[in-house]
Amino acid sequence: MYPLRRNRRLRTGEAIRSLVRETSITPNDFLVPLFIVEGKNIKEEIASMPNYYRYSLDLLEKEVKELWKLGLKAVLLFVKVPDELKDNAGTEAINAEGLMQRAVKTVKNAVPDMLVMTDVALDPYSSYGHDGVVADGKILNDDTTAILAEMSLSHAKAGADFVAPSDMMDGRIFEIRSLLEDEGYHDTGIMSYSAKYASAFYGPFRDALDSAPGFGDKKTYQMDPANRDEAIKETLMDIEEGADIVMVKPGLCYLDIVRDIKNTVNVPVAVYQVSGEYAMLKAAAEKGWLNHDAVMMEQLTAIKRAGANMIASYFAKDAAKLLS
Ligand code: PBG
Repeated sequence: MYPLRRNRRLRTGEAIRSLVRETSITPNDFLVPLFIVEGKNIKEEIASMPNYYRYSLDLLEKEVKELWKLGLKAVLLFVKVPDELKDNAGTEAINAEGLMQRAVKTVKNAVPDMLVMTDVALDPYSSYGHDGVVADGKILNDDTTAILAEMSLSHAKAGADFVAPSDMMDGRIFEIRSLLEDEGYHDTGIMSYSAKYASAFYGPFRDALDSAPGFGDKKTYQMDPANRDEAIKETLMDIEEGADIVMVKPGLCYLDIVRDIKNTVNVPVAVYQVSGEYAMLKAAAEKGWLNHDAVMMEQLTAIKRAGANMIASYFAKDAAKLLS
């Protein structure tokens, strides 16, 4: 074919490159994870996540208004729970006046059109730091899913648009969907962490919420990073059970999984670019070893190219600012 076909013709300048570009990032692509703490006037930086903060509710209000101005229209809420409120059953998780429930109302009050998604899992509430009820060193599946359903209902009552179960118990999507339907919350959506791996990239997040497991690890419920077929199985089951959006987590190391799932399902696919991915780039950029903005955009583009319809990312605000 050469020299009739020269592929570089389509790369000669920015005008032609942008015409033929297959993937682009916009503020519409993002879910913004937000960490919330009790108190007033608190904006504290997370040590292992430079330039990322925990907010008290009053400052959360300011933050979501700023996000909205940048074109970011969806938030994913996480709460840091004081130790004295933690127990094995995560009782505080279903407190109608709990921090999460108040946070949902705060966001809706500040920016009524902001899409609010809530994290549904026991670990921030668990005295063991696990995503389920513990007995004899084991994580009990069915006792946990019943609580997750109650927790989801409580978030829906507070005004959450979507609940996002991140726990990886079997059957939790079915339990949550059933209870939401029974209680008339037909429009409350479920974004399921369907293919969530037992990853070492979650470390900084566990610092942010003080939610590291007190014993053992999460390998009896989160997936083995070595597995690919299993991700399809998990995801198809979650869709059958009622998930509206499915998620792959973490991001970069799992883009083969993202593409597999994108090619297999007909619901939107979310990807979570997790805390460790954020920390790695921040650290390298601080040292001057990588160009922060360029690498950030390359990573986000790669995630979207792999098949993500949306990206939960701690870079959302950085990217939105860069794009504006
Ligand atoms: C726990 C949960 C985790 C994350 C989101 N929800 C950590 C874990 O499974 O231990 C991690 C997110 C991140 O690392 O950014 N339910």
